[in-house]
Amino acid sequence: MKNSYLLTATKMRIPLVAGNWKMNKTNVEAKELASTVKEKLADIMGVKIVLCPPFTALSTIHSALKGTNLLLGAQNLHWEKEGAYTGEVSAKMLVSSGCKYVIVGHSERRSYFGESDGIIGLKLKAALSEGLFPILCVGEILQERERNETEKVLEKQLHGCLNGLSSEQMESITVAYEPVWAIGTGKNATPEQAQQAQAFIREFLTKKFGEELAQQINIIYGGSVTPENSKGLLVMPEIDGALVGGASLNPDSFEKIVKTAQESKKQPVKI
Ligand code: PGA
Repeated sequence: MKNSYLLTATKMRIPLVAGNWKMNKTNVEAKELASTVKEKLADIMGVKIVLCPPFTALSTIHSALKGTNLLLGAQNLHWEKEGAYTGEVSAKMLVSSGCKYVIVGHSERRSYFGESDGIIGLKLKAALSEGLFPILCVGEILQERERNETEKVLEKQLHGCLNGLSSEQMESITVAYEPVWAIGTGKNATPEQAQQAQAFIREFLTKKFGEELAQQINIIYGGSVTPENSKGLLVMPEIDGALVGGASLNPDSFEKIVKTAQESKKQPVKI
């Protein structure tokens, strides 16, 4: 694969850092956290920052973030436009709550709620049809890594999830490499492990959609990212940002990770 720094073109990959708050924070707590994050990061340039609170806090946070560069994302959606799907939320509802982004296929959705690559593919299409930017999560479990099957698993997931998508649709997607063994465990992938897996993901995208498009896609890392380990990860050329769970609930930690992304990618990757 060519080194992306050597390619000549005008477009650039702007790093993205998203905070996945998971099933945490009531409305009042969420508003407080968003307001603190806003005070710290509202004026930051050169990094896309996405806050993903639970559904119940989306509208509140949307109002709290008005007039800033901070973007709102959801953690999940249903693939149908509307109908008798008790407890579910559609892409259109997310847009009407102020969302620009949505996390799709998180490993917790895959393992606790049985989401298959096929379902995740439908969710991607539903999100894209309403103009949302999906953050597609992929990653292997520990046994798969130990069996040396990481690339095989990533290939299967990417193939299954992206099946039938056009290049134009792919342009709106961010891919998050999240090794399942690193999520919420305090055991992050080493920068080299993440770089290697993410280079493989870009290679897959290159084969499927061509080099120009593959170079435009943000591929971010998630799994126990902290202020302490973020520098080592974010300086890697294939790591275009972070999907942060636990550390995004602490405004000081989240601020440090965002600033590390800004610092590490001062010269955004030219493509
Ligand atoms: P973590 O979660 O940072 O708490 O490991 C990451 C994620 O699940 O997206």
